[in-house]
Amino acid sequence: MANLAVFASGTGSNFVALADDLAESAHSLVVLVTDKQNAPAVERAAERSIPVFSAQYKGREREAAERDILAELERRGCDLVALAGFMRILTPTLIDGFPGPIVNIPPSLLPRHPGIGAIEKSYHSGDTELGITIHYVDHGVDTGPVILQRSFKRDEVADLTAAEARIHALEHRWYPTVVRDLLDHIALGQIRQGATQ
Ligand code: GRF
Repeated sequence: MANLAVFASGTGSNFVALADDLAESAHSLVVLVTDKQNAPAVERAAERSIPVFSAQYKGREREAAERDILAELERRGCDLVALAGFMRILTPTLIDGFPGPIVNIPPSLLPRHPGIGAIEKSYHSGDTELGITIHYVDHGVDTGPVILQRSFKRDEVADLTAAEARIHALEHRWYPTVVRDLLDHIALGQIRQGATQ
């Protein structure tokens, strides 16, 4: 078995999808890391008795908060980090300091529309396909190696709300699948420490 940490700042629907999927596996979601103590994701963790680590970013350099996070990840024996709506950009302190893979799920078809507001930007662009990307995190913003993309045709959705719902449904369908597959490989020793692909 292998241990997952999820980082989230908001609603936590992807956190829930991951937690509920892993609850039926040999792996464990050992900690929710957040920068927002009152985020709905924190309530979702409490309902599932999953520990929460609330990182203190305010009034400090990001690196100081990240060193605290790294200590927590080590203490909990985390093998994999899944970002799920964590609204802080990670610095090399965390990216290079964590020995396992870190993955993210931006709601766009990278390299199209990286960064914040990706769903709106995708919807209002002339792109004929919308979708999600799951990728390894590197030092850029939404630039790391792609693991999986899933898409649908823009003209299949009537408006932005429908596009958002369709994108979230893809996230909830595919993030647990990819994360569980990575955890399986880690547990079998098939992903070396620090690997990004
Ligand atoms: C998701 O849309 C994900 O693509 C993005 O942040 C959002 C988080 O939503 N990275 P939730 O908090 O998991 O509901």
